[in-house]
Amino acid sequence: MRLLVLGGTSFLGRHVVTAALERGHDVATFTRGVSGSPPSGARPLHGDREDPDALPRALAGWAPELVVDTSCRTRPAARHAAAALAGVHGYAFVSSLNAYRTWPPGPLGPEDGEPTWDTDEDGYGPNKAYAERVLGAAVGEGFLTARAGLIVGPWDYVHRLGWWLDRIARGGRVVVPAEGTAQPIALVDARDLAGWLVGVAEQGRSGAVNTTGPTGMTTLGGLLDLCREVTGGEVEWVPVPEEDLLGAGVEPWTHLPLWLPSADARTAWDVDTTRARELGLPSRPLRETVGATWAWQQTDTRGHLSPMGLPEPGLPADLETQLLARHDQRT
Ligand SMILES: NC(=O)c1ccc[n+]([C@@H]2O[C@H](COP(=O)([O-])OP(=O)(O)OC[C@H]3O[C@@H](n4cnc5c(N)ncnc54)[C@H](OP(=O)(O)O)[C@@H]3O)[C@@H](O)[C@H]2O)c1
Repeated sequence: MRLLVLGGTSFLGRHVVTAALERGHDVATFTRGVSGSPPSGARPLHGDREDPDALPRALAGWAPELVVDTSCRTRPAARHAAAALAGVHGYAFVSSLNAYRTWPPGPLGPEDGEPTWDTDEDGYGPNKAYAERVLGAAVGEGFLTARAGLIVGPWDYVHRLGWWLDRIARGGRVVVPAEGTAQPIALVDARDLAGWLVGVAEQGRSGAVNTTGPTGMTTLGGLLDLCREVTGGEVEWVPVPEEDLLGAGVEPWTHLPLWLPSADARTAWDVDTTRARELGLPSRPLRETVGATWAWQQTDTRGHLSPMGLPEPGLPADLETQLLARHDQRT
């Protein structure tokens, strides 16, 4: 079938293109052409989603039957796609758990029982929720919204897991959140999510689906141990209490990527993914994900990219030195 990927040249979208080509689809990508090219075999179409005429212009003579939308972050982008693509058989939209008003910190029960943002305010979560409503109303049956949690894997330029891999590979004394290592965390491999998105679009599935890894699949400490195993980094973990981290100005999630303070961590990854499992979202062994991410990272020459103007993840060197010195004074 003719399958359009809105996006397709960055992270998740690249994997969607690969999965769709493997399943024999005629694949086109739609991007501005700023972030590079899609995998070979896809036809690259160009335009800006913010421009109402760009999609109809790019799609003249090539009418998609299926859409996987990985690049929608603004309200105009959602409206323009709704106007141009309402007639497709299947439209799989990549949303976020941030579409829920109550996440973070959660916990999140089944999709239909949890409130999503319905305000006019501009923001990542409210915009995703708005896009779900606008696109859902336009496409009707055949519109599925995948509310993703933490996506990881090769081509992940957001570099949260990537920062830990680099840091652990360098070896030495590595600051870890003392309470945080036991905290549960759930992740979804971009390749698992991508293949699944193509499948649900083909089937014309509808509704909302929490697309993250199974609750309790691992802990932050378990993930860091895997990073050590995969990189062979010779590290000594230096557990620093949460109180000291916060007191020193360590920003959760950013300075120590993937770490959340205990109050949020207890519930943030307690997300009901029953529907995702029923619809066949796979969850490959985490070791495979971490290994593939590390392998890709060593060949990558493009560097990191912080979407949405997010700060570059990682613990600044001066803060690391300060935390280690303080730890030594105490012990
Ligand atoms: N990473 C996570 O943990 C996480 C968690 C939850 C949800 N998500 C969602 O997952 C998706 C991630 O997808 P991704 O990593 O493949 O891509 P992405 O970084 O969100 O989007 C980048 C893609 O969109 C294109 N693009 C950006 N602005 C555009 C515009 N104005 N017009 C046309 N194309 C545009 C880019 O190409 P050009 O720059 O060349 O235009 C690129 O192909 C996002 O929707 C994100 O919100 C991510």
